[in-house]
This record gives sequence, structure tokens and C-alpha cells, in this order.
Amino acid sequence: MNVGGTAYRSLWTDPVDGSLRILDQTLLPHELGIRRLATPEEVAEAITAMRVRGAPLIGAAAAHGLALGLEREAGDHALEATRALLLATRPTAVNLRWALDEVTRAVRPLPPSERAAAAARVARRIADEDVARNRQLGEVGLELLRAAWEARGGRPLRILTHCNAGWLATVDLGTATAPLYLAHAAGIPLHVWVSETRPRNQGGALTAWELGQEGIPHTVVVDNACGHLMQRGEVDLCLVGTDRTTATGDVVNKIGTYLKALAARASGVPFYVAAPSPSIDWTLEAGSDVPIEERGGDEITHLRGRTAEGDDRVVRVVAPGSPVRNPAFDVTPAHLVTGLMTERGVAQASRAGLRALFPDEAP
Ligand code: MRU
Repeated sequence: MNVGGTAYRSLWTDPVDGSLRILDQTLLPHELGIRRLATPEEVAEAITAMRVRGAPLIGAAAAHGLALGLEREAGDHALEATRALLLATRPTAVNLRWALDEVTRAVRPLPPSERAAAAARVARRIADEDVARNRQLGEVGLELLRAAWEARGGRPLRILTHCNAGWLATVDLGTATAPLYLAHAAGIPLHVWVSETRPRNQGGALTAWELGQEGIPHTVVVDNACGHLMQRGEVDLCLVGTDRTTATGDVVNKIGTYLKALAARASGVPFYVAAPSPSIDWTLEAGSDVPIEERGGDEITHLRGRTAEGDDRVVRVVAPGSPVRNPAFDVTPAHLVTGLMTERGVAQASRAGLRALFPDEAP
């Protein structure tokens, strides 16, 4: 996407030295900082520290990390050790395992001398295919948004999203944002409610920044305001991303997604999930079987921000000594999901619905 007239992806390979470049998302929305990652350890740190985050981007970054590791050492033991290092970074997004499997499957039959170059090719393909898949998903979503807008008699379409399923969470374009960007370009008037997404504020910091760059009208609200807005008829549809959707259509996404789906059902608001195929875990049935990341309590007890003078500050906001708990994702059961937007069309959130679109993959 464009930032200040320059086109960026959220990661890319340096054409000169082959290292990985990322936009360090811990610096946004204050500054656009580029970071160089030259080893799998640096890539693992970037994923763990959430310099890169969002399910598809985590997968693409890990694939590049494995390729960087194979440049250093390409024997079977090194391949398995680097894969394990990267796989252990974050537990919930299935794209991480998917991308590492894609690279591993391609290089394992090769002699070590050929593995690094082959892995780099697969990593670049994963990144390029992510962009193409998001565009296809965006076109599917565009038609759905167009119909919803027409049903509103041409008044602006009011969409609520959560967390950041934008271009920063993918290699480019985003999943939940792809239909928004295409609809905006097609002249469909939108207004996006951006839910702040405590504790790390991916909505307020990242999604709002993205939409602002594109000139899409939006308003940031605290997470707790979303039920109120839906109850008052101020939301036409919800559209969120997913870190892992099971073969039966249960959706695991950023903590707070489930509450929004409940409020949407109670208020008769359609609840859509942008679910590209690498985010679907065909090996799992129930959302309750997905490992849910528990993050550090400091994300709850403290807030990080930048002063008007440009100083980064961390301040405590919770009573000292009170215990805290920080689950990072939750499960929205399939029956609360109106539809799964995929690159092949909108699937009903069920085994049969997914099987109809993905007959080769669905069990
Ligand atoms: O913890 P994060 O910021 O990596 O969580 C991101 C989300 O939950 C996104 O909604 C999800 O990955 C979909 S991204 C296209």
C-alpha cells in the first residue's frame, strides 16, 4: 500500500544482500521504521516481540526466516532446529505452521547445497501468493459490500472491524481490509468503526493508521462500545480476520471477537470473517482445540505511548499487586458467523460450506 507516495509491503527481501526487511509495527502509528533481519533468530525475535504480527504475515516472515537459516547451515538437523525455533514463536495462528510446512516440504528432498536457494524461492512465492489471494478475497468481499450498500439505498455503509486484519497483518492489502480498500476505490461510501483492541491497541494504532493513510472515513471506539453501537442500529455489518478457522467453521481471532459476534447476533447484524485458505486448519474440528496464546500481564497493567514532545513513555494503569490474565485470542463458534469470506467465495461457516469451496483440502 502507499504511505506518503511510496509503495510498501509489510515485508520484502533486500535485492542486494538477501536479508529480510520489515516495517517494525511496534513503532506505529508514530513512525514508519524499517528493520533488517538477517538470521532466523532475528526473525523469531521479531515475531515474538510482535514487530511483525497478524496471521498471514507471521507465516510469510517465518518462511523467510527458515530460508535465512538454511543459508547458514542446510543439513537435516539445522533444518529441523530452525523450523522448531520459528514454530515456537507464537502458538495460535495456523499460518505459521502452514508456511513452515510449505518450505520444509519443498527443501527436504533436496541436497543441502540446493536448499537455501529453493527455500528463498518458496518464501518469496508465499509472499506473492498472499497478496494475490488477498486481492481475490477482496473482490469476493467487494460484491458483498456492494450489495449491502445498495440495500441501504446508497447511504454510506457502516462496517465494524476488530484488531488489525489489514495490510500490516499480511504482506499487502490485508484480509478484512481488502474488501474495504476495493470498495473505497470503487466509489462505495464507507464508514468504519475501528475497535481499539486492548491490550495492544492494534485497532487504534494500526487499523486506524492504515485507514487514515487511504482516506477511508473511520472512527475509533473502545472495545466496550461495540455492543452499544450495534444495539442502536449504527453498524450494518461486522468484518474481522482470523488466526485459525477450524474445518467446521469455528473462528479463532483476537480476544474480544467473540463478544462482538454475540452482540451482532443479538442485534441482527451480519458477522463476516475474512478467512483466506492458509488460515484454515483442516486438521482441527473444534475451536476449543486451538491453542490460545497467553501473553504477559504487563500488556494489561501498563500502557505505552508517545508524548507530544516525541518521548516514548510507559505508565501503570492497574492497581499494583492485583493479579492479571491476558488471553490473546478467543473462539467464535461457527453458528455465530454469517459467512467466511475466502479467495474462492463466501463459505457458510460449516464443514459442508467449506467443503463446497475447498473439496481437495476439506476432510
Ligand atoms: O496478536 P496479533 O496482532 O498477531 O493478532 C492479529 C489478529 O488477531 C488478526 O485479526 C488476525 O491475525 C487476522 S490478520 C489478517
